Amino acid sequence: MAKILINGGPVLQGEVWISGAKNAVLPILFASILGSKTSRIGNVPHLQDVTTSVELMAQMGAMISIDERMRIEIDPTTLNNHEAPYDLVKTMRASILVLGPLLAKHGRATVSLPGGCAIGSRPVNLHIHGLELMGADIQVRNGNIEAIAERLKGARIVMDMVSVTGTENLMMAATLADGITVIENAAQEPEVEDLANYLIAMGAKISGAGSHTITIEGVDELGGAEYSVLPDRIEAGTYLVAGAITGGKVKVTSVRPETMDAILDKLQEAGAKITCGDDWIELDMQGRRPLAVNLTTSPYPAFPTDMQAQFTALNCIAEGTGVITETVFENRFMHVQELQRLGADIQLEGNTAIIRGVEKLTAAPLMATDLRASACLVLAGLVARGETSVDRVYHIDRGYEVIEEKLGQIGAKIRRKQIT
Ligand code: EPU
Repeated sequence: MAKILINGGPVLQGEVWISGAKNAVLPILFASILGSKTSRIGNVPHLQDVTTSVELMAQMGAMISIDERMRIEIDPTTLNNHEAPYDLVKTMRASILVLGPLLAKHGRATVSLPGGCAIGSRPVNLHIHGLELMGADIQVRNGNIEAIAERLKGARIVMDMVSVTGTENLMMAATLADGITVIENAAQEPEVEDLANYLIAMGAKISGAGSHTITIEGVDELGGAEYSVLPDRIEAGTYLVAGAITGGKVKVTSVRPETMDAILDKLQEAGAKITCGDDWIELDMQGRRPLAVNLTTSPYPAFPTDMQAQFTALNCIAEGTGVITETVFENRFMHVQELQRLGADIQLEGNTAIIRGVEKLTAAPLMATDLRASACLVLAGLVARGETSVDRVYHIDRGYEVIEEKLGQIGAKIRRKQIT
């Protein structure tokens, strides 16, 4: 077990290199199961969720090697076990992403049903329903999703709600189905498009990824591919907020600015000067205190739920009152009680947080509850007077690569302490 300790105060300044996107690499790793040849994936972030995915695929019999630069080579041809057991699924809900590939490639899959999670109930009914429309026979028994199909058939699927991993699972399954699948009301997230690009590199026929309607023409076989994962827009956004909250000047490099419009707009509203190049973004607060911003989370291209907690932290010390409404997950305000322990003035009304900015926060011991909530507590710690400790940092290690090193590089006083 470890804690992160932060001494608030320093104004952050400098450059941070952004890693590959967690939410792109996970579906890409599982999509490699669809291939009949080896794939090589680059720009892979060193994250606990990547380790869990590799463990799961290795348990299924895939041959996997990882080099010192985190390039992952996957030979899926030896895969002979079609089960994702509870002990792995419970640590990473994204394990549900093996369902579509296993079913499409091997005709069967048993995947433990992910339970609820700290941020909401997060059912997977849309994944199951879409696969059933493609001809799969699916039973939920003993806590497992048991799915069988001879060969999936192309179908027209209208998603009831926009679901990122739901769209990804169905898109992956459809690549090897017989005929054409059309997914309507598809998620438009850049990570969905990145997965589509990888599948296309393997030989899949996909059009429309990145829009509401994705069309997939099934093929008989996919090969392998060499692919470099998209940069992480949420990690980039988190470091830009670190710059903004401390009144600093932070440049994030190796990013795709065009995937971050909603985040950059809100940072500008908060008073930041934003300059972008092809693959970098610089934020300059010119020493000013941020202005409070109002925002509502929604699927891409609107403001991402995965940046909500970080902007809640920003509003805590901003000038004015900010209103933040969460519409994607029903319980994603667990960080509010922790921020209040630092002296934040936040009123929660249902799915809305009303945050009156205060001039200063004061350090306290804090507990992380989920990945983005832990990032938000670290951000608040950067401006809280005294030493803030954030417990349960395994949440942060699921999605942020060496956060204490990257923040340390730009001037934060932050360290990790092992505890027994
Ligand atoms: N939903 C259903 N039924 C389903 C699927 C989803 O009702 O079958 C609901 C969910 O309960 C939620 C909404 O639809 O209220 C949207 O959920 P979605 O399925 O889009 O979320 P997800 O695919 O499980 C991914 C990311 C999350 C991110 C969300 C929203 C991955 C591996 N995870 O989750 O990332 O918050 O999309 O953008 O891609 C994170 O990185 O911290 C994280 C939680």
